[in-house]
Amino acid sequence: MAAPVFVDVDTGVDDAIALIYLLASPDADVVGIASTAGNVPVQQVCLNNLRLLDLCRADAVPVFKGAEHPLNSAARAKSRVHGPQGLGYAELAATARELHGDDAATAWVTAAQRYPGELIGVATGPLTNLALALRIEPELPALLRRLVIMGGAYDHRGNTTPVAEWNIVFDPEAASEVFAAWSPSEDVDPQRLPILCGLDVTRRIALTPEILSRLAAAAGSTTTVLSIDDERGTRSTASNPLIRMIEDATRFYLESYHDLGHGYLAHLHDPLAAAAALDPQLVQTQPTTVDVELAGTLTRGMTVTDWSGRWSRKPNALIAVDADPALFFDRLIERVGLFAASLG
Ligand code: BDR
Ligand code: CA
Repeated sequence: MAAPVFVDVDTGVDDAIALIYLLASPDADVVGIASTAGNVPVQQVCLNNLRLLDLCRADAVPVFKGAEHPLNSAARAKSRVHGPQGLGYAELAATARELHGDDAATAWVTAAQRYPGELIGVATGPLTNLALALRIEPELPALLRRLVIMGGAYDHRGNTTPVAEWNIVFDPEAASEVFAAWSPSEDVDPQRLPILCGLDVTRRIALTPEILSRLAAAAGSTTTVLSIDDERGTRSTASNPLIRMIEDATRFYLESYHDLGHGYLAHLHDPLAAAAALDPQLVQTQPTTVDVELAGTLTRGMTVTDWSGRWSRKPNALIAVDADPALFFDRLIERVGLFAASLG
């Protein structure tokens, strides 16, 4: 049976692929998409979500507008790796779809109350909406079946500051409130703790032109094999519209990663979190206590992780420590390939 899934995103190239993965998954029923400021301003995130749903012909999935800025600060400048509109070179057609009238924090609560003990939450952007939802409904941790968050760098360097990861440093206070909400006063079944997919594991999920070609083949689509030697901004000629969008979006992402010194590849942070939300076996986790640095002059937004138990606090998270990229990509290609073919 398909599980109800509520997703909170700052779409974003990899958020878009995470959404496509969920829409393509027969074991997921996407019951709502919350939009938050992050990679691009929230208005753009909303547009990206609505247009993407159109392209995927996903009717009846409500999109909610959420936070315009972090809890206690102004939004950071746009991320450099996703392009000015957040979807690289992809240009999605305008849509007549409209936002749902509820704000994203209320939508989190409504979804959790509608599916008590069943709802899977996935957050692949800053945690502002979720923190606001917890202020409305402190019982949210007990209502959710599972929560998977892409964010943090636990035994790993940062990608936005030397020690901090983008989603957490964008709104450290929100992340701190979310982690605190799951800090147990009594012994809690570790299965109820949020799964945190940080850079430690998501940086192992490297998308390459070869993987993109396999995806296009699985969709029965022609493909444009991407190369660092191509002229920047070359547009996809793939015959399948979803594959074309993915190739146009990821070309910008690959170029940005290349310019940052990673090689011609790009990390699929958010799709790993989405896949783990449906199948937690995709990541190996360790119960650990984690907190967010809020005051450091150099380390604000760092996820400080008590691997050696010095705080003597009960674990408040399951931190992903390993993942199998080949298994993940096989699943992505199978699911998204079939889904794209069905839209072809
Ligand atoms: C995270 O930051 C964003 O740019 C990506 O979409 C991802 O959620 C990785 O640090
Ligand atoms: Ca994201």
